[in-house]
Amino acid sequence: METKVISGKELAQLHQLQMKDRVEMLYNKYGRKPKLAVILVGDDAGSVSYVKGKEKACINVGIENLTIKKPATITQDELLAIINDLNNDPLVDGILVQLPLPKHINETYVINSIAPTKDVDGFHPQNVASLYLKQPGIIPCTPKGIIQVIESAGIKIQGKRACVVGRSNIVGLPVAKLMTDKNATVTIAHSKTENLIEVTKEADILIVAIGRPKFIKKEGVKEGAVVIDVGVNRDLETGKLCGDVDFDDVFGHASYITKVPGGIGPMTITCLMENTLECYLKHVEEK
Ligand code: GUN
Repeated sequence: METKVISGKELAQLHQLQMKDRVEMLYNKYGRKPKLAVILVGDDAGSVSYVKGKEKACINVGIENLTIKKPATITQDELLAIINDLNNDPLVDGILVQLPLPKHINETYVINSIAPTKDVDGFHPQNVASLYLKQPGIIPCTPKGIIQVIESAGIKIQGKRACVVGRSNIVGLPVAKLMTDKNATVTIAHSKTENLIEVTKEADILIVAIGRPKFIKKEGVKEGAVVIDVGVNRDLETGKLCGDVDFDDVFGHASYITKVPGGIGPMTITCLMENTLECYLKHVEEK
């Protein structure tokens, strides 16, 4: 069957272009630009690359970017002090601490210390609760981007069977909630699911965020399913970036598929820009 490749990269470019005009208009109205602070601890290659992508997107849309780089030896108290200063800075709209953090730092403690109104990741318990209670709050970037990618392709979610493979706080759980809110019937599968292939094969929309290179093969995909690949892995043989889905194997079997790279990743960053803009609007409009 013909498989359409959904380009998250193109959609991201389009959204960023539209946002650029909006940011310019808001700058004229409120006299300042939105500002995003990103904290990078250590020099993990993946994290460094993500942070660069965020800096580039800020330039594209006209959001001011402050990247604070600290060595992996920073103490938890030092990190909390930086976050506290950013919380109290009226010109900072969004704060993002790039994860993972070194082992001697308690991630939960750090996330909980970010002001919920500046928590552009949507990881603070207050924003998590808002998502689950359908109250206004900040929605995590990757799940938000996934929904936009599916809907932009004209795919109907309502009434469909969706399977999310992975149950992380960052992707699996929140995207399952958003898909439920869109009236899909959602199954959450994971590394301990028995007969996983039988479960994933039931899905009309299969969202994979398990962090294992080329884990999902054709056998685990229903013919004509929509396949959303959230994984970013290194192929152990070629050293190239690859997803959690074996793209070549599934191509020709699914109706839609996203690529890695150029799929969900650029949409995550674009949604981060959107969340920063939302926080900015709250800050400037409250004054
Ligand atoms: N590390 C991997 N994904 C993310 C994310 O969405 N936000 C942050 N802060 N760190 C990450």
